[in-house]
Amino acid sequence: MSTSSTTVDEIADGLFRIHTPVAIEGAGGFSFNQYLVVDEEPLLFHTGPRKLFPVVREALGRVLPVERLRHVAFSHVESDECGSLNEWLAAAPRAAPLCGSVAALVSIGDLADRPPRALADGESVRLGRHAVQWLDAPHLPHAWECGYMLETSTRTLLCGDLFTQGGAGDPPVTESDILGPSEEFRKQLDYFSHTPDARVLIEKLAATRPALLACMHGSAWRGDGAGLLRELGEVLARRC
Ligand SMILES: [Fe+2]
Ligand SMILES: [Fe+2]
Repeated sequence: MSTSSTTVDEIADGLFRIHTPVAIEGAGGFSFNQYLVVDEEPLLFHTGPRKLFPVVREALGRVLPVERLRHVAFSHVESDECGSLNEWLAAAPRAAPLCGSVAALVSIGDLADRPPRALADGESVRLGRHAVQWLDAPHLPHAWECGYMLETSTRTLLCGDLFTQGGAGDPPVTESDILGPSEEFRKQLDYFSHTPDARVLIEKLAATRPALLACMHGSAWRGDGAGLLRELGEVLARRC
C-alpha cells in the first residue's frame, strides 16, 4: 500500500475529514478517512491503519495538538477502524477508547492499552457544543460489534463502511450520487454480511435524519440522508 498526500478539510462546523488516498497493489485506488470533532473533548472517529499512523497523526496535528484528544472512537474492530488505537493512546495521555459495548467486551478491553468507555445503544456523550450518540448496527455491513455515531449538532452520521466508494475519494463532500459508485465497488468486493436485520437497522439509522453522511472510504455526502439510506436498504433487499 502506498500513500500520497493526506488532506484535511472542515466539512461541517468543527468536524474535519482527514483523508488519505492509497494505491493497493492489484486493487487500484482506495482511500481512508478519519473524522475529527474539535471541541472541549476532541473526538477522533476511526484511527486509520497502523501503518498510516504517522501521516494521520501529522494531519491531525495541523488542526489541534494530538495530546488534546480525549476520545478515540470507531465503528468496529478492523485495522482501518482501530488498528492504531494504541499508538493514539500513547500520543494522547488523556484519551480513552470509545466504542460499543460488544466491541469493549469482546476485543477492546483486552487489545487496548487503556480501558474503553463502552456505550449502550442510543447512549450519548457530550463533547462540549457537540455531542455524539452511539447506534448499534450489528453485522451492517459487517462485524458483530458494528455501530455508528451521530454528531447531533451538525446531524452528521459517521457511517463507517456504508457507501464505500473506490478510487481516490475526491471531493471531500459531494451532493452527487454515491450509492451508484458504492454499489459498483461492492460488485467487485461484497463487504456486506447480508444480515436479515439490514432493513430494520437501516430504518433505525434513517430515523436520525442525517444531513451529512461521513463515509470512511470515499467522499462524504450532503443531502437527505434518510432518503439515501432507505435507497440502500432497497438495493440490499433486492440483492440479499
Ligand atoms: Fe469494515
Ligand atoms: Fe473501513
